[in-house]
Amino acid sequence: MTDSWPLTLINWYRANARDLPWRNPPGAALPDDPDWPYRVWLSEVMLQQTTTVAAAPYFRHFTTRWPTVGALAAAADEEVMQAWAGLGYYARARNLLACARAVVERHGRRFPADEAALRDLPGVGDYTAAAVAAFGFGRDAVVIDGNIERVVTRLLAIATPLPAARPAIRAALAPVVPQGQAGDFAQAMMDLARRICTPRGPSCLICPLSADCAANRAGTAEIFPVKVAKKARPTRTGTAWWIEADGHVLTIVRPAKGLLGGMRALPSCGWRGSGEPPMAGDWRRLGSVAHGFTHFELHLSVDALRLARRPALDLPGALWLPLAEIEAAGLPTLFAKAARLGLAAAGEAGEKAA
Ligand code: ADE
Repeated sequence: MTDSWPLTLINWYRANARDLPWRNPPGAALPDDPDWPYRVWLSEVMLQQTTTVAAAPYFRHFTTRWPTVGALAAAADEEVMQAWAGLGYYARARNLLACARAVVERHGRRFPADEAALRDLPGVGDYTAAAVAAFGFGRDAVVIDGNIERVVTRLLAIATPLPAARPAIRAALAPVVPQGQAGDFAQAMMDLARRICTPRGPSCLICPLSADCAANRAGTAEIFPVKVAKKARPTRTGTAWWIEADGHVLTIVRPAKGLLGGMRALPSCGWRGSGEPPMAGDWRRLGSVAHGFTHFELHLSVDALRLARRPALDLPGALWLPLAEIEAAGLPTLFAKAARLGLAAAGEAGEKAA
């Protein structure tokens, strides 16, 4: 591999960069905006969770509602959790708030530019610290994410499985980061990885780096990065309760600690087996929904009870939501799936009654 590939790649990026709402155009000076690093950080936290296409509307919504890190730090927890719903993995949203508040308290409302100080912030690891330093502040940081790992292991045909290959990837990249262009360089690798150097069926014939790529020369691009076999995620089960009365459904707020903490949801039992419904009655099973969390797959049964009137219930955050509002209520995806079963059953019951 020659060391000219970083500049070849940057030239390709200048002509082909995607236009993303958190991205500075290639070759341009960083915007003269003290909250630019906040925008970069916010996008990076979102992109750890979802694709660029799915993150874009969330990014626009967050930056309109909370245009500065100070505004986000001052937001009510539940509002931020609700705005995050659908992105999944709520620990990140909790860390998002903790980080915004730490920036306000420790750094006077400005993200620090230094990678070590960034890494000290809640939820900020090596990758995010490097990304904020490079994309937010124009520092010469070595940014490495899964996409970049794929590009580099192919370029160098690094056959050590991940994660053991990480030191070799860093050692290969650090000396070739084009000074003053670390942000463009990293984002160029990300775009190349998504468009051309894809996990399956990479388009080596049109790749600007094909002549520099050891895996391409050997015709083996697709075997990189080598990974150790993953253990299957365990399956857990639980039950959600759809309690309907008078055109409304009962929702609660989940305990602050734990999975989907602090989110509005349907009442449910834990994820480790059966539990008692919140009241006795003529329960009917509507079906079940499946949802993948980071560490397990959940199969959630949905049981329904229809009552003539709304009882007063001593449950945390108990709120009877009109059926017409449930889809827009920002329930976490798992409970939005469960609510769809409840709404379908409510519709059927309405048709029978009509
Ligand atoms: N993934 C993470 N950060 C990104 C960025 N700035 N551009 C494209 N993809 C990304």
